[in-house]
Amino acid sequence: MTSKANEKLKKYFDRNTPLFIKIGRSSASANIHRAVWGNGVTNDTEAMTYVNKIILDEINSTDTSETLRILDLGCGVGASVFYLANGLLRKAEFTGISISKVQIEYARKFHQQNYSGLACEFIEADFHELPDLPLYDFIYLVEAFVLSYDPDRLLSGIQKRLKPGGKLIICDDFLTEGNGTRVESDKLLAAFVEGWHIGSLWKVEKLKNKAENHGLTLAKNTDLTPYLNLWTLRDKMAHFFLYLYKLLPVKSIYWESVRGGDALQKCLIRGLINYRFLVFTKS
Ligand SMILES: C[S@@+](CC[C@H](N)C(=O)[O-])C[C@H]1O[C@@H](n2cnc3c(N)ncnc32)[C@H](O)[C@@H]1O
Repeated sequence: MTSKANEKLKKYFDRNTPLFIKIGRSSASANIHRAVWGNGVTNDTEAMTYVNKIILDEINSTDTSETLRILDLGCGVGASVFYLANGLLRKAEFTGISISKVQIEYARKFHQQNYSGLACEFIEADFHELPDLPLYDFIYLVEAFVLSYDPDRLLSGIQKRLKPGGKLIICDDFLTEGNGTRVESDKLLAAFVEGWHIGSLWKVEKLKNKAENHGLTLAKNTDLTPYLNLWTLRDKMAHFFLYLYKLLPVKSIYWESVRGGDALQKCLIRGLINYRFLVFTKS
């Protein structure tokens, strides 16, 4: 473990994961990420797995007869891995990595109970210090890139473990040029960064340039923000309860994350942040 920030993140996910996957949106699929109401989505479960679906489409559109190797960095409880395994058109071997011991325990349990025939391994590790791993055809991060305290190091590790021609997929929040008054915007962004333990909130352009230094070329850049169902009744209720929470003398690790999510909603609505799906190709 390399930093104090990572210790905090680990504690944040170890403590919150059981709640994340039992209550709220994540209970629909065990994915700890956003619901995206993209084309063809008709219910909560499909919205919660839409990002998995577009990753699957990306992988299935690759022409190869070999067994694929796929690495999920920041794998949560393994929900994306299991989704992909169900829909892939060819054989694949998976590795999932998370900094959270609790998440890895959940993932291993789901694997044993429901997918015992699947070639996959879940490892508790820091994605800045990857263990000995084989080369992969696909590496993806869903809502995990922004948690990196050192994206340059993360990209360097990814580059080393991606096959030539392999793809890196990142789905996450990126800064836009910004709207509104500066002070107000800064306050909202700071509340998001603090509540969700964000390590690096970058513009896509910055990531594109940094990735190029590691031989990774941006090939697709899709804005998923229009497909987020923002400011729902659930969000309004959370916003209301936050008023009461702020009056309390004690802080809760779960409610701090709700506070971060509330600020993120406002950042997305005001166009300070976009939710993007990016695909990079290794030359
Ligand atoms: C918002 S959750 C997303 C989980 C999963 N990708 C999904 O979509 O369900 C962020 C994930 O990133 C992981 N993570 C954050 N920082 C990490 C690090 N330094 N090393 C490994 N995993 C990390 C967390 O443990 C968690 O699994």
